Amino acid sequence: MGGAQVMRVITVANQKGGVGKTTTTVNMAAGLALMGKRVLIVDLDPQAQAGTAVGVNLPISESGRSLGWALQARLQGIELDLNDLIFDRSHLMGEFQEYGGALHLLACNEGSMSTAQNLVGAEGYKATPILRRMLATVADQYDYAIVDVPPAINALAAVGWAAGDWIVTLCYPEYATVKGAVTLAGSVKFVSKNTEGECNPQYLGVILNKTSPPSKWKEQEIEVRSGVVDAGLLPFVADIRTSEFISKAYGMGIPAVLTHTNHAPGQQYAALLQEMLVRMDSAVDQWRIAPAPAPATEEIGV
Ligand SMILES: Nc1ncnc2c1ncn2[C@@H]1O[C@H](COP(=O)(O)OP(=O)(O)O)[C@@H](O)[C@H]1O
Ligand SMILES: [Mg+2]
Repeated sequence: MGGAQVMRVITVANQKGGVGKTTTTVNMAAGLALMGKRVLIVDLDPQAQAGTAVGVNLPISESGRSLGWALQARLQGIELDLNDLIFDRSHLMGEFQEYGGALHLLACNEGSMSTAQNLVGAEGYKATPILRRMLATVADQYDYAIVDVPPAINALAAVGWAAGDWIVTLCYPEYATVKGAVTLAGSVKFVSKNTEGECNPQYLGVILNKTSPPSKWKEQEIEVRSGVVDAGLLPFVADIRTSEFISKAYGMGIPAVLTHTNHAPGQQYAALLQEMLVRMDSAVDQWRIAPAPAPATEEIGV
């Protein structure tokens, strides 16, 4: 499977930590791999948790296999073969490997990535397309790359946005997360201008994460659900409920869609991915958008 499609890069971004970027990155990647796609997870966050979430921790002694090192080399005009760095994590798919998908990782560690971040920052806008150009060298090997971006608005985060063909952001039922998503969606608009059109990421929508079933929606969740619609953030209809399977799997170094493929986490990520794939192939005015909840009805005359 896999097919001849051109690699699509999806960037998962939000300047706030703890919204679920890393969880979403690895579960989207694993979900696409289950669909028979060849997928590369790209860990651009110096916290290196996307690696951890698929069972890879790069010690300092192995910094030569870090994306941080590859970024440093490239900034100094040295081109590394990314294939020498990439980890194959497809065995995490167990029996599902038979569908032909692949789950690979471009890992990082904090030291090498912090140095890369400083170098990228010093280079300014002209370094922004660097990751996009590096990923182009492996574009014939993958159907999708999913980039986990640091929770910041800085030069390294801009490198991650610029690498994306598509950008998704996240909110969870806390009002401050809507503000974060609005800022992110606004920042993305400047990428094309700052890279003189070389990078032109398109905003794909906001994922609602750590949600509750409708019967348990409290005021804050209702406000957030209305807030993302009102702010034009184009929320996906499929949301990701709070699940201890998701957090437990994350802690065990395996995405929940692989441990609970036929249970709620697997089904929710599969529904979300279906929606994303449809959005990528259709005009914005055709997209299904999660509706704002009906305002709480007040009892009158009691
Ligand atoms: N849908 C979910 N259900 C339960 N726990 C979740 C869910 N999404 C994320 N988490 C947990 O929330 C924490 C933060 O998630 P993480 O993906 O690390 O966020 P970020 O990368 O944005 O900082 C982690 O402990 C993770 O296990
Ligand atoms: Mg993270």
